[in-house]
Amino acid sequence: MVLEANNVTKEFLRKRADSNVFCAVKDADLALEEGKLTALAGRSGSGKSTLLHMLAGLLKPSSGRILLKGQDLYGLDDRTQSALRNKEIGIVPQGQSALQALTVRENIVMPFSLCRTGAPDDREITERAEALMKRLGITDLADAMPRELSGGELRRMAIARAAVMKPGVILADEPTADLDDENTKIVLDMLKELSREGTAVLLVTHERDALPYADEVYRMQDGKPLPEKDKN
Ligand SMILES: Nc1ncnc2c1ncn2[C@@H]1O[C@H](COP(=O)(O)OP(=O)(O)OP(=O)(O)O)[C@@H](O)[C@H]1O
Ligand SMILES: [Mg+2]
Repeated sequence: MVLEANNVTKEFLRKRADSNVFCAVKDADLALEEGKLTALAGRSGSGKSTLLHMLAGLLKPSSGRILLKGQDLYGLDDRTQSALRNKEIGIVPQGQSALQALTVRENIVMPFSLCRTGAPDDREITERAEALMKRLGITDLADAMPRELSGGELRRMAIARAAVMKPGVILADEPTADLDDENTKIVLDMLKELSREGTAVLLVTHERDALPYADEVYRMQDGKPLPEKDKN
């Protein structure tokens, strides 16, 4: 098991008619394994991104634990947690996430620039970035600025950035939203390939087309991911 949510709950303070607390994720368990692509479906507002952010080390659960390779992610000090997260977890966030002042290539190698301890060397990372851009069909855009890219190109850039450190886990939050069929296929094939290479991949998706790519499908229901019986 690479990354595991153990009985996690997330409550938000929010004014509602009956109470001030809103529970977005409740007593959720989810285990992401090496070499597996796990899909997480569910209606809008069902808590998918909230769970993903907790798994990513970006949002502390109200209760419960997130274990990364057996280590309690939120029990670590800030510096250790950031270093571990940067090395082991690649994130493709929902929506726009490019740094506008950097080129496409610079955006992709960003996780490496942020944290060099225990990281591969410059040459290895440059070669990996080039290989990822080639596989994703964005080599020609390496020196372009993010504002010059289409939505699909930006998404492919985000996937290259998530994969560049060869993390143990990739968490992708609706990476195919708003993409045409061709880009959707490129993105899903890439995530599948990364999982076959041994990465644990979580794919949050609305798209039914994506489900056949998954080894396991879960659906968020009452704040919990429940296994789907028939994934197709
Ligand atoms: N910071 C916050 N404060 C208060 N409520 C929040 C906060 N973040 C999320 N929520 C609420 O928690 C619920 C779950 O949100 P979340 O973003 O996890 O949904 P989702 O399943 O990812 O939806 P979508 O498919 O639209 O992306 C929503 O009702 C949302 O309004
Ligand atoms: Mg979401």
